[in-house]
Amino acid sequence: MTATCLIYDSDLQHAEQLSVLLAECGFSVTCEAALTELDDEACTSFDLIILDLEDKALDSVQTMLEQGIRVGTEYFVMSDQDAPELADQAVRMGASYYFCKPVNEDNLRPLLADIAAEADTPAHDTDDNECTVDQFGLLRGNSRSMRKLYRQIRKVAQSDISVMVVGESGTGKELVANTLHLMSGRRDGPYVAFNCAAVPESLAESELFGHERGAFSGATQRHRGFFERARGGTLLLDEITEMNSDLQAKLLRVLETRHLRRLGSEEDIALDVRVISACNRDPATAVQEGTLREDLYYRLAQFPLQVPALRHRGSDVLGLARFFLNELNEKHETNLTLSDKASEAIENHDWPGNVRELRHRVERAYIMSETTLDDELIHAISQGASLGPVDESIVSVPVGTSIADMERALIEATLKHTDNDKPAAAELLGISVKTLYNRLRDYQPD
Ligand SMILES: Nc1ncnc2c1ncn2[C@@H]1O[C@H](COP(=O)(O)OP(=O)(O)O)[C@@H](O)[C@H]1O
Ligand SMILES: [Mg+2]
Repeated sequence: MTATCLIYDSDLQHAEQLSVLLAECGFSVTCEAALTELDDEACTSFDLIILDLEDKALDSVQTMLEQGIRVGTEYFVMSDQDAPELADQAVRMGASYYFCKPVNEDNLRPLLADIAAEADTPAHDTDDNECTVDQFGLLRGNSRSMRKLYRQIRKVAQSDISVMVVGESGTGKELVANTLHLMSGRRDGPYVAFNCAAVPESLAESELFGHERGAFSGATQRHRGFFERARGGTLLLDEITEMNSDLQAKLLRVLETRHLRRLGSEEDIALDVRVISACNRDPATAVQEGTLREDLYYRLAQFPLQVPALRHRGSDVLGLARFFLNELNEKHETNLTLSDKASEAIENHDWPGNVRELRHRVERAYIMSETTLDDELIHAISQGASLGPVDESIVSVPVGTSIADMERALIEATLKHTDNDKPAAAELLGISVKTLYNRLRDYQPD
């Protein structure tokens, strides 16, 4: 059967360009200039709909997107200017791909070919001509290695197959897991992340499975664990090799029986959760070293997804740097640019801390620069300077503040800066994740 595509684009010339590309990829194409002319039934009868987010008309787009999700129509959205926030919203509504007009045909072609089930269409490497990076789910990047990741995500998103996301620290494993959730049939359910490194061993079991009142001393109330909170949705078990071996065995049993019990309870609770795990090193090595049980590994890694290190993403490095700068410019209504020297330094750096490191360095350079990100950025890269909290989360404390209060302010600001990513915050603060976790417990009321 011929794949069908509907293009909504008020720019007829651009629509024409897209149509030609789509026809090449085996689609039969319909073009419309106005969204209002489309009725619901028409929308759901296409394999792919490409929407122009003109006038940021997100509300009217939402209904269409929601319908599409149910019947399996795939949505791509585009806009005239790179608009990170808009892209994010559209993707959260169910669009699977976002790009900036005019369309970069090389980036789109492999995705189209996939939808048209032309599996053997060769991918093009676009490493030489990229200025902007397209967005797939919550992920940015056009490099060959990222496009391969996108295709794999699309393949496994629809099933409940257990996916282990493997990649160096800072490569975006959490974004991958979240994207998988957003593209799955569970996208209307909760997405919950449990970081095995951030929870003390003694608490991990009851945090995961929950407990009844009186299950142990201190259990003053019934507690719903992460598995229960993720019901109907997706649970990410992050840094799985940090979970102790006993608990790994219990986890395996739960996954195999598809039932769990709160601590101190006799009642079985059916497991309606998709489990995704993440691991920041080669899981086979972790098995050999004894930090990951072999039986659990096979259960969790039915489909391992390898997230490429930043140094394997070609011109995405520069594209991402521009993207992060663009985000800051948008947020603060500024117009800073990257100097040639800074761009070169970015391309030549090895980025051991991957995208997280890149983001922090751009942010740091941004607050230290007036119009162009230049010497400061180069300095930060060549010094390998450790970077503290930046941007709006600068901490200033008046004389007379206690060290304890100052520490608390710094910890809270850092967490805000890392979007509550505790391992990242601990890294910036130079303390262990467990120490950070203990501090946060101290701050809790009662
Ligand atoms: N492809 C990407 N596009 C945009 N941002 C990214 C991408 N990959 C990573 N990031 C950003 O880098 C940081 C680290 O990502 P995260 O998912 O926490 O990495 P990991 O879990 O692998 O350590 C976050 O700020 C995230 O938003
Ligand atoms: Mg992580």
